[in-house]
Amino acid sequence: MASPSPKQVIEGQRQDWNRVAGGWEKWDRFFDEQMAFLNHRLVADARLRSGLQVLDLGSGTGYPALLAAQTVGTTGSVVGIDLAEQMLEAARRKAASLKLSNATFRTGDVTTLPFEDSSFDAVTTRFCLMFLPEIPKAVAEIVRVLRPGSWVAAAVWSAPDKNPYLKIPMDIIKQFIELPPPDPAAPGIFRLAKPGDLAGMLQQAGLADISEQQFFGDVRFAAPDEYFSSLMDIAAPIQNLWAKLSPAQQTEARQRIIDAAGKSQKRSVVALPIAVRMVAGRKPE
Ligand SMILES: C[S@@+](CC[C@H](N)C(=O)[O-])C[C@H]1O[C@@H](n2cnc3c(N)ncnc32)[C@H](O)[C@@H]1O
Repeated sequence: MASPSPKQVIEGQRQDWNRVAGGWEKWDRFFDEQMAFLNHRLVADARLRSGLQVLDLGSGTGYPALLAAQTVGTTGSVVGIDLAEQMLEAARRKAASLKLSNATFRTGDVTTLPFEDSSFDAVTTRFCLMFLPEIPKAVAEIVRVLRPGSWVAAAVWSAPDKNPYLKIPMDIIKQFIELPPPDPAAPGIFRLAKPGDLAGMLQQAGLADISEQQFFGDVRFAAPDEYFSSLMDIAAPIQNLWAKLSPAQQTEARQRIIDAAGKSQKRSVVALPIAVRMVAGRKPE
């Protein structure tokens, strides 16, 4: 089967993330608490401070855009851009409830940024770049819109073996249906998992002072079925695999996922490891 065109990938992404926007809003408080440490890391890697103008790519429901807006304060501003209008609607509601009038959100594709050259003091992006059909094109756009001397900070998923949080359901779904071997160049959760991949693209695009670190953590649940429900509500790519199972297979797969997660339960906490590749670079003066 021919690979989908970039346009088709982007349209698929828009539909996927709009579909799960309600799930993101439902679990917002939980994931905000669980994954805030990644936002703080991005704010640090992008060297955010009062007064800066920041662009956040693939903001979804506002991560890390909202923390960035708090950090740059009222003399700074943050623009979040995303394909999925319904994810952004949630981000806007949150910005309003936090009284963050310096955060705005607009729909768009991060591979063709609707901004002038050198118009931002920093770019942040969490869990977006690996879903792009043309990552180097987006990287060139990041370099174009950054002011000289300023930083981009990105978070992408590291390897599946280091991410039981995501790997457990994928492995179990594969027990029921045959999936084609993953194409390492195809957009997807682990597209930028390989060490040096994104960092190499930043270097190719002319950025300097590049850093890359595998950053380990975990996501903690009160019970295995909280893990199952929350992940299935928000993880569009896993939902797409799940939809290939029959109702009977889904019942059995759900139980196997819950059993597998239960093995990580100690007393009243199920802690599932995650590993995130944190990559940053600076546009030369
Ligand atoms: C896993 S969500 C991450 C959202 C948020 N940054 C976070 O970490 O919670 C991925 C987001 O990337 C967005 N996205 C994917 N491809 C995109 C593209 N080409 N342009 C803009 N946004 C895109 C999706 O719409 C989705 O909201």
